Amino acid sequence: MRGAAHGRGGVSVSERLLQVRDLRVTYPGRAGWGRSGHANPALAGVDLDVESGGSVGIVGESGCGKSTLARAILGLVAPQSGSIAWRGVPVPRGDGSALRRLRREAQIVFQDPFGSLDPRMTLADSVAEALVALEGPTPRARVVARVAASLAEVGLDPSLASRYPHEVSGGQCQRAAIARATIARPGLLVCDEAVSALDVSVQAQIVNLLADLSRRHGMALVFISHNLAVVRHLCDEVVVLYCGRVVERGPREAIFASPRHPYTRALLDAVPAPDPVVARRSSAVPAALDASVRPAPGGCDYRPRCPRAGPECAARIPALATTGTGHAVACHHPLSTAG
Ligand SMILES: Nc1ncnc2c1ncn2[C@@H]1O[C@H](COP(=O)(O)OP(=O)(O)O)[C@@H](O)[C@H]1O
Ligand SMILES: [Mg+2]
Repeated sequence: MRGAAHGRGGVSVSERLLQVRDLRVTYPGRAGWGRSGHANPALAGVDLDVESGGSVGIVGESGCGKSTLARAILGLVAPQSGSIAWRGVPVPRGDGSALRRLRREAQIVFQDPFGSLDPRMTLADSVAEALVALEGPTPRARVVARVAASLAEVGLDPSLASRYPHEVSGGQCQRAAIARATIARPGLLVCDEAVSALDVSVQAQIVNLLADLSRRHGMALVFISHNLAVVRHLCDEVVVLYCGRVVERGPREAIFASPRHPYTRALLDAVPAPDPVVARRSSAVPAALDASVRPAPGGCDYRPRCPRAGPECAARIPALATTGTGHAVACHHPLSTAG
């Protein structure tokens, strides 16, 4: 959301935490989509704004660049071009000390809870290690107290503190990973499919935990998920990525009530309906979401799948244009506001 003062507790534009502009990432050796000898970027010029304490959901199919965006925000992958600024201060590319400061500012939780903890360390030791790495040498008693408080905050029973990752459930392990990521009070927590590998009932608990931590500490969330229902529950703002570009973004209400991009519409239509008759009707993958249909060179990447595509869609890449307060769409033939 951008523009006038808004959001939880009236967060204003001057409190912008993260500003990403025209971010471009190309992996070396990545095959193109038919443009011979020309690697297509994983991110082709992405803008992203996150306000202090705000929550942004990033959605889009596998391979659209969500994890690349997450990694670029954290300085884990180097962009070819574009800029990233934290609290208005640009992060110079390749600057080690700026990146270390950033590591305290932003943390990440990944999909696989077991993969993100050292299997040879107890849960408490993993959390303690993160604290010392981020805050430097800390008196032992202080570390013990902080770790205990952090484990309690994420809902882990003290009896689990001395367990190893393989001795706890996926949900408990993910809670420990969240404790590790949040113990030094980052301004931003990036969750890259952080609940996707968990049982549905556990997913809901972890989502509630994230919302609670965000509210309690004014911690912003960038929540990457293919689960739109979860994004709707958790995020103030939604960004839709397709082939490394933002095709639509806006306040949650605008995106869910009146999506303008045909791809967003197709994603929303594919959310399983509570009504079994409707669910059965929509069980086949619609052409608009068929990932085997690859983008054609030039023009709008989405047009080979798009029911609304016309000649101009092959001629020009549509620019992201404002369509309502904080709502923007990149489409030559957007849906009307009524949907
Ligand atoms: N380390 C890598 N090397 C080469 N290509 C990669 C690498 N990581 C991701 N990609 C490619 O970049 C694109 C975006 O990937 P990714 O950011 O992982 O998407 P998502 O998280 O949305 O599934 C994909 O086409 C993927 O194959
Ligand atoms: Mg990913």
